[in-house]
Amino acid sequence: MKKDLLSIRDLTLGEIDSIFKLSALLKKNKKKFSKVLSGKTLALIFQKPSNRTRVSFEVGMYQLGGNSLYLSPAEINIGVRESVRDVAKTISRYVDGIVLRTFEHKNCLDMATAATVPVINGLSDFSHPCQGLADLFTIKEKLKDLKNVTLVYVGDGNNVCNSLLFAAAKTGMNITVASPKGYFPDEQVVKYAQEIAKETGSKIKITEDPVSAVKGANVIYADVWASMGQEEEIAKRKIIFKDFQINAKLLANAAPGVLVMHCLPAHRGEEITDEVMDSKNSIVFDQAENRMHVQKAILIKLLKG
Ligand code: CP
Ligand code: NVA
Repeated sequence: MKKDLLSIRDLTLGEIDSIFKLSALLKKNKKKFSKVLSGKTLALIFQKPSNRTRVSFEVGMYQLGGNSLYLSPAEINIGVRESVRDVAKTISRYVDGIVLRTFEHKNCLDMATAATVPVINGLSDFSHPCQGLADLFTIKEKLKDLKNVTLVYVGDGNNVCNSLLFAAAKTGMNITVASPKGYFPDEQVVKYAQEIAKETGSKIKITEDPVSAVKGANVIYADVWASMGQEEEIAKRKIIFKDFQINAKLLANAAPGVLVMHCLPAHRGEEITDEVMDSKNSIVFDQAENRMHVQKAILIKLLKG
């Protein structure tokens, strides 16, 4: 049976640990795995722009001995030129795996149902599982353990935030989300995460107060205030989120060694200042690098068979 990766919600703790172990091996021994996906092709069907996701999947696939094919809306305009299901069925006849970056998460679900090859969610409006996994791998690398770590996410309760909530709940990491009223993460996601947290010991908090939230933080995390597809809300959100900027003043409320993360792209001067982004606390480019190591592990797990 083929396996997909649509949300961290679908992964067990054992599967997450196993991805992290393989990611660490891949990061250390690039050459050793250079033929593991030889003869395999990965299709990247993207409805939105991308730097990290596209480049890290393409280079990762190349480093594992396989090929990749980038398909923008100019080639495959899913749901417009052709239905998601017809695309899934056709592409499955040619390739060994699909990464889909799309607007509605339902497209990921439909693609996975109709495809006979593994489907990986490369970002939807609901979740960004590859990001969440790479983020926790990075935290583990820096702080050794995820238990007793508190990540404070400051900003919009969006796709990245949902994935962090799932990942934290599953692994026992504590997470606090500080968002303006009306921009809290999905209620169902929080409820699910809180249920899982009862078993894993993760503490999950949602607040409107970023200043008190960062007080106990080991990691402070930022994402853009307006995600791709919300461009018409940019001006409104700049006003609503103005007290949710990660700047030196906010950082002064946290421990001096607090780590700062951002999934990138960053809108410098909006959700994060240059001063913080370029400070010694910032690990944003190590985090970006780890996207590739973790995705290579995911590709081996799903495509190798
Ligand atoms: N973080 C992330 O997914 O970056 P891209 O949008 O550039 O792929
Ligand atoms: N929340 C952002 C993440 C970008 C990687 C977006 O969806 O645009």
